[in-house]
Amino acid sequence: MGCFLCSDGDPSAAKSSPKNTRKNNSKNDKSHPSSDNSKSTPTTEFKKDNPKDSNQSSVANENDDKNKNKSPDNKEPNKAKVRTFTYAQLVTATNNFKGAYFLGEGGFGKVYKGKLEDSDQIVAIKQLDLDGSQGIREFVVEVLTLSMAEHPNLVKLIGYCAEAKQRLLVYEFMPFGSLEDHLHGLRLNKKPLDWNARMKIAAGAARGLEYLHDQMNPAVIYRDLKCSNILLNREYHAKLSDFGLAKVGPLGDKTHVSTRVMGTYGYCAPDYAMTGQLTFKSDIYSFGVVLLELITGRRPIDDTKPASEQNLVTWARPLFKDRKKFYKMADPELEGKYPVRGLYQALAIAAMCLQEQPNMRPLVADVVTALNYLATQKYDPLVHPVQSPWRSRSRSNIDQGGGVSP
Ligand SMILES: Nc1ncnc2c1ncn2[C@@H]1O[C@H](COP(=O)(O)OP(=O)(O)OP(=O)(O)O)[C@@H](O)[C@H]1O
Ligand SMILES: [Mg+2]
Repeated sequence: MGCFLCSDGDPSAAKSSPKNTRKNNSKNDKSHPSSDNSKSTPTTEFKKDNPKDSNQSSVANENDDKNKNKSPDNKEPNKAKVRTFTYAQLVTATNNFKGAYFLGEGGFGKVYKGKLEDSDQIVAIKQLDLDGSQGIREFVVEVLTLSMAEHPNLVKLIGYCAEAKQRLLVYEFMPFGSLEDHLHGLRLNKKPLDWNARMKIAAGAARGLEYLHDQMNPAVIYRDLKCSNILLNREYHAKLSDFGLAKVGPLGDKTHVSTRVMGTYGYCAPDYAMTGQLTFKSDIYSFGVVLLELITGRRPIDDTKPASEQNLVTWARPLFKDRKKFYKMADPELEGKYPVRGLYQALAIAAMCLQEQPNMRPLVADVVTALNYLATQKYDPLVHPVQSPWRSRSRSNIDQGGGVSP
């Protein structure tokens, strides 16, 4: 939630980009509405956020009664299970939003851990920043989307509070926080994620995306896939969160949805950033960035690196073409503890997702099949060889040159 214009055509947007750190990813980085008119270039024209600008409804458009009452398999929607809370209940749950209960902050507002008084359930409570320039619309889309959705790889919305100006969302608590926390060192005493956990997380996130694309009715384009929106429980079971930017996919024989370019710099598909034409393949590109982030441990945009390495995808493209260089893409924090064949296969999936041409990117179902397989191929450093740069170059049986073609 609370992302910003992801087009790189707008320098001001790029400057205020969070560069994928949660600290920077706070209120300053909120989405700036851009033109929703597909005829104009979204990178150059901006106008006020106006839902009517879009020729396609948000995933749970407040005006779309049909959407409100549909569930993925035409059963009763999950909506009945979403509770409403009074503000007082959430004040009690968080001990008046005590600093010690603070979990993090994004574009929507602050997130606190809380305990519901009536059930003792531990929850995460996200409070809309009342000074923010947007959020109400995201709040509504989030509540309605998650009311219609139910899947083990989507975070569960327990309820919400809409009292006077207050807007709060109450979620199941995810004890391991976000994938971004794990990959980019924001957790104290964190242990680097091992290869098996990374593949498990990738497969789980892909299954969540598959649910949105292939099982929800109407199908949903997520638009905000990134590491900070992948939450983890203790077993590294991944759940997607933050659906405030989600959109209903193209209907009828349409191939895309024309919309404002929103998302996060570094994750946004170039075709979507340039044209404002949103497709399911825009999400696949973002997924490719996440997978590459999982493999390399690098941020999508990192201005602390030399210029040629600041953009993760730009850095990776030439390496994808030469298998002899694949080892360079493995996160050094893995300390060589990864399967060479698994690395090759994971990079091949990432490269396919990151194809410049959207129609060359795979469907999410194929990504799920491939990653489910990879996640079952457990790597054990006590049994399998630990890689080192010279080993990867000289001894790998798959390391025969060639590459994967993005
Ligand atoms: N359900 C949850 N359980 C546990 N921690 C959570 C939960 N939801 C959010 N958090 C924590 O709060 C932080 C902020 O989340 P939030 O979704 O508001 O912002 P973000 O994803 O970092 O940024 P953005 O606004 O760009 O989406 C997360 O990084 C995570 O650590
Ligand atoms: Mg988030």
